[in-house]
Amino acid sequence: MTAKIIDGNALSAEVRGQLAERAAALKTKGIIPCLAAILVGEDPASAVYVRNKVAACEKAGMRSIKDVYAADIDPAVVFARIAELNADPSVHGILVQLPLPKHFDSEAVLESVSPEKDVDGFHAENVGALMQGNPRFIPCTPYGVMKMLESAHVPLKGAEVVIVGRSNIVGKPMAMLLLAKSCTVTICHSQSKDLAFHTRRADILVAAVGRARMITGDMIKPGATVIDVGINRTPEGKLCGDVDFESAKEVAGVITPVPGGVGPMTITMLLANTLEAAERCAT
Ligand code: GUN
Repeated sequence: MTAKIIDGNALSAEVRGQLAERAAALKTKGIIPCLAAILVGEDPASAVYVRNKVAACEKAGMRSIKDVYAADIDPAVVFARIAELNADPSVHGILVQLPLPKHFDSEAVLESVSPEKDVDGFHAENVGALMQGNPRFIPCTPYGVMKMLESAHVPLKGAEVVIVGRSNIVGKPMAMLLLAKSCTVTICHSQSKDLAFHTRRADILVAAVGRARMITGDMIKPGATVIDVGINRTPEGKLCGDVDFESAKEVAGVITPVPGGVGPMTITMLLANTLEAAERCAT
């Protein structure tokens, strides 16, 4: 059996088309959705992510602001800039690209973003709202995964879900969203005993660990849905996920590729959150 592939580029194009229409409708009311992105330091992967996010905004008819700071910048400068963006009514979404340099208190930076403009959904107020089942902004990667599951008509009610990875950005919010859809959710992590025992039980397996090709076909239940959130580089410099695609696609029923899977959907849902923030200003 060869798995059905969920094409993240195709789904992104469809959703971004719908978002561009909504952005155009807002423009007639004199509102242009605007995302401000803050990048600190020279991490090459972060620089590419921010460049892609800003470019996607422009393409969808939204405005963007990009502030880049040297790695050794005084955090006070960044806090002052966030306060300015919080107070600017023409800015609807604010994103601080992670990771931040070590001398930053990342938690304090995320808490300094106004919860109404926190389009990443990382502020404690928004994390709490998601946990209570009334999300204001859903973190972009898990939001994108939910859209992909929906587009592939993957049954959720009562499904056994195993998430590998317990990060605040992916693993934990992913668990909350799937729990809200009545899945039975297990979160595995680096200290889990017998990882394969868990993964082989999963109807839906979400890999979000950041280790190249660590989930192999023999760890997957035949017919399962496999969602690969990882973006890693092989020693040869090739992009690959946390799932060994070649062996996994022979066992899974549905699978997402890397590249061209979850990655483009993450950016698409950032645009969706920014637009949503702007629409709230219009009402
Ligand atoms: N670093 C890795 N993923 C993300 C993300 O979704 N948002 C931000 N701000 N930083 C990240």
